[in-house]
Amino acid sequence: MEQLAQKVGGMSLDAITEKYPNCHPEINPFDFYRAHLANVLSGITGVEPKIIYPALSWTSGLDKGDLMLAAPALRIKGQKPDELAQQWADKFPEDDPLFQKPTVVNYFLAFYLKPQPVVQTVIPLIQKQRAEYGRNKYHGLRDPKDPSKGKKRMIVEFSSPNIAKPFHAGHLRSTIIGGFLANLYEGAGWDVIRINYLGDWGKQYGLLALAFEKYGDEEALKQDPINHLFQLYVRINSEMSAEKEQIEKRKQEGEDVTELEANSLDEQARRYFKKMTDRDPSALAQWKRFRDLSITRYQETYARLNIKFDEYSGESQVSEEMMERIGKEMQEKGICKEDKGAMIVDFQELVPGKEGKRLEKPIVRKRDGTALYLTRDISELLARYEKYKFDHMIYVVASAQDLHLRQLFKIIELLGHKDIADKCQHVNFGLVLGMSTRKGTVKFLDDILRDVADKMHETMKKNETKYSQVENPDATADTLGISSVMVQDMSGKRINNYTFNMDAMTSFEGDTGPYLQYAHARVSSIRRRAGLSDEDLANADLSLLTETHAVNIVRLLALWPDIVQTTLRTLEPTTVLTYLFKMTHALSSSYDHLQVVGSERELMKARMALYDAAHTVLGNGMRLLGLTPVERM
Ligand code: ARG
Repeated sequence: MEQLAQKVGGMSLDAITEKYPNCHPEINPFDFYRAHLANVLSGITGVEPKIIYPALSWTSGLDKGDLMLAAPALRIKGQKPDELAQQWADKFPEDDPLFQKPTVVNYFLAFYLKPQPVVQTVIPLIQKQRAEYGRNKYHGLRDPKDPSKGKKRMIVEFSSPNIAKPFHAGHLRSTIIGGFLANLYEGAGWDVIRINYLGDWGKQYGLLALAFEKYGDEEALKQDPINHLFQLYVRINSEMSAEKEQIEKRKQEGEDVTELEANSLDEQARRYFKKMTDRDPSALAQWKRFRDLSITRYQETYARLNIKFDEYSGESQVSEEMMERIGKEMQEKGICKEDKGAMIVDFQELVPGKEGKRLEKPIVRKRDGTALYLTRDISELLARYEKYKFDHMIYVVASAQDLHLRQLFKIIELLGHKDIADKCQHVNFGLVLGMSTRKGTVKFLDDILRDVADKMHETMKKNETKYSQVENPDATADTLGISSVMVQDMSGKRINNYTFNMDAMTSFEGDTGPYLQYAHARVSSIRRRAGLSDEDLANADLSLLTETHAVNIVRLLALWPDIVQTTLRTLEPTTVLTYLFKMTHALSSSYDHLQVVGSERELMKARMALYDAAHTVLGNGMRLLGLTPVERM
């Protein structure tokens, strides 16, 4: 890039960084292209480069150019935009070192990169940066000019299942999206803390302990805590409903049910949970065992998804003292008030207009004094701030909880912590419809992953020769299965609902996980057959890459760091995924035109260098999404 900067003349890379926000031309080719174009166009239009720079945008595809400019964006009065566009295009120098003369469509200028400069800079840049290509250590620095001031801190709270209850689609999506966001920010230089906020507290865990006393099996608990606890939970719950029905019936018949009620499962559970909140050692120890065993099991599953949490927090970890204190503070500040014995937040009184109405009237203390989900979240948020002094915190939670999080952030603000509330963000997502495996409705993540892996294994077996070469078919099938689920989940915008479709997601046709893995493995296979060393590729004569197919792949490669920067704004996995599929399509249509094995040696080296760079970028993108790229399948 340095050399290119010199050739382009006038601008050092540092000077470009100084000039534009978040601009790092030494690691992001498009930052460089925009800065250069802004300069040239400024000379032509008389408009400040700083105004032109942000007006330069991506095109919808390579055939539409690499960057484009809408003439009206420069706000020049008194002339028709399409005439202006044409005039500027005419004045654009023929001998620009980077760009061809722009084409004009209506009032749009379309800029196409000249092939050789981009080929000669981007492939070596990728060879040098490898796993770093696309990362940006500046984004997360407190002071981009002074790394010694440290990184900004990000908390991503995600997954957050409820112990002894099904790991439902909402948890699945939170896990996938949250894992991705954590990777994204880590790659952008933030100090990222991954928190899992378990649902692990409440009367239902008292009930669960009762169930274990009655029907628990030590062996089964150790073997498979998640399923065992779930079975107990289901069983005791149905018993409790039956019992409730009975009591109700007798009551109707005029019987005195006081004693029945006092000994009911519901009442026993309440008493057990009371022991837990009173910190009774044996009750707490039992509950902690359930929690610890469940976490150990979760950790194994998360590991398959390349996810590791820094902290297993949870509703149980919120201190009663703190909730009490905040409760008092809320009362003093008039944020909550009594309503039929309970404490409520009447937003309509506190927040003017439509917003107050929308926030409704949540309860923060029940009549019997127990805290609620919202109450815990308030304390937890403030405690996290105390502990981590985060610069930003993301909650990855289903859009079904939009209201809950809005209430939470507003209460924090009303408590006088607008600064903290402003650092918090809810990243939401839609539903998964029809999530069931072939064996029935899904209960746990493990069931889904196992089922999809089985399906992938069947598919792999269909190609006997290839199958025999795969070293560990079980592990590969597992990885492919996971990729299927994740890619399907990340294909659309987060907010959209989608239908869980096992056949579609495991297919090799279309933009699926297995197809993405196949595209990656195919390049690995070419590399194996080419038998070239890294040195061969580093010394390749890149000027031999002249075909449109080769140049188009490089144009896409050049875009990768900019894709990541845009993703930091959209926080949409699909931004990355759409790009990766563009890349796989460009690759697959190129193979007939750019033969590697069998070509003359110098050409073989150059083409392999190209494919190897593409392999790096595909791999970087896949890992960013949380996938494990396979080399063979
Ligand atoms: N355990 C909750 C549920 O399953 C999700 C927790 C979301 N995070 C939070 N801080 N409230 O619905």
